[in-house]
Amino acid sequence: MRKAQSIMRCQECGYTSLKWLGRCPDCGGWNTMVEESAMENKRADAFKSFTAAQDILSIKGSMENRLSTRIPELDRVLGGGIVNGSLVLLGGVPGIGKSTLLLQVSNNIAAAEGKVLIVSGEESAKQIKMRADRLGRISSNQFILCETDFDYIKDQIEEINPAFLVIDSIQTMFCSDISSAPGSVSQVREFTGRLLRIAKKRGLPTFIVGHVTKGGSIAGPKILEHIVDTVLYFEGDTHRNYRIVRAVKNRFGSTNEIGMFEMTSKGLTEVVNPSALFLAERPTGASGSVVVATMEGKRPLLVELQGLVSKSYLNVPRRLCSGLDFNRFSLVLAVLEKKMGLHLERYDVYVNVTGGIKVVEPAADLGIALVAASSHRDKKVPDDIVAFGEIGLAGEVRFVNQIDKRVVEAAGLGFKKVILPSQDVDINKKELGVELLPVRTVYEALEYLN
Ligand code: TYD
Ligand code: MG
Repeated sequence: MRKAQSIMRCQECGYTSLKWLGRCPDCGGWNTMVEESAMENKRADAFKSFTAAQDILSIKGSMENRLSTRIPELDRVLGGGIVNGSLVLLGGVPGIGKSTLLLQVSNNIAAAEGKVLIVSGEESAKQIKMRADRLGRISSNQFILCETDFDYIKDQIEEINPAFLVIDSIQTMFCSDISSAPGSVSQVREFTGRLLRIAKKRGLPTFIVGHVTKGGSIAGPKILEHIVDTVLYFEGDTHRNYRIVRAVKNRFGSTNEIGMFEMTSKGLTEVVNPSALFLAERPTGASGSVVVATMEGKRPLLVELQGLVSKSYLNVPRRLCSGLDFNRFSLVLAVLEKKMGLHLERYDVYVNVTGGIKVVEPAADLGIALVAASSHRDKKVPDDIVAFGEIGLAGEVRFVNQIDKRVVEAAGLGFKKVILPSQDVDINKKELGVELLPVRTVYEALEYLN
């Protein structure tokens, strides 16, 4: 008789091979190939169900039903609530607040919609209750299941018939008919796959918590991201109190949205005015600082850029930026050197976005140019100015999108002047009380330094 064949599967990316390899040819990870019996794969196949093709016009119910989390910031990131039967992955480093957020969501849904089942493989029922006590009034209709075996969880879902399900976390869950350890790619993939079938069949909206590894990705990342409908990342500094929930994949909405929260002693609260939060610690009257109006999805956000240009003692001067795209940073410095005659070759240049937020859009270019030049010449960007615009290689300032929203946001926070590309703006300047300072070139923008 032929021996049952085993395959090797990479625990990082899911690449399979018939023989063991020290390094995965797909993702390049070392020592990530683990043996998996072929029987497991057969069994997994047995879970597949086959259906006949349908005429598109005969399919009913194309309007998705959404379940509101009663947390507007989160609903917005989800594209207007959780779509029934969809699987949402919430990733983030340990301690960022995933369990807290989901407990708050669960509390809201239980109060308004019906039963909620929280499956936890991380904390005991007591710990969850203690956390719930901290968060305030507890709604009934919340069921806690401290279990990690798929078969038991499935039974409980059938028995309780919840309107909302939370799995915390996927790395602790396992299917008993698969031999690899919880958290391995085959377990994570299989568990999520089975959960998906339950969720779709019952129309059950499900949140799955996924821990992020040191490298910054959810363990078994690509595989999970492909299976689920929506992937949200919980970001932020664990040292600071604010948190950002960002959609990186969404089958039912836009992926550019972010939701802002603050961790308080009573759980996560929404940040209604994020721009004010990011500008709270801004120094006044200092050189090397400017406020940039950036877009996060459909929402404008004002952030502070800081620059420091200091004499270098190295053969190759340092170029460091954080929260920005390094290529754009380099490009802007090259334009400053070539077109503006700034001699930066003997200077280290540092540019930061404060508050730990990332700004990757080219509209931040003008901000980079202003802070670098401001620090280099030791001249200030006036405190009441906001700037944005993309910089081209010829030193021209190029158009950006959603210019009106950016200007309105700046005016809303009390800024008096906006340096922007010379393009049409559809706003009432008088009413807003802002002065627009359109510029065609970087040269014109730097004229505003004093
Ligand atoms: P938690 O939700 O357990 O994180 P995760 O599930 O992502 O690992 O968050 C735990 C942190 O949040 C912990 O450091 C304590 C803090 N916290 C508060 O500051 N306020 C609160 O009301 C709660 C419940 C937690
Ligand atoms: Mg947790």
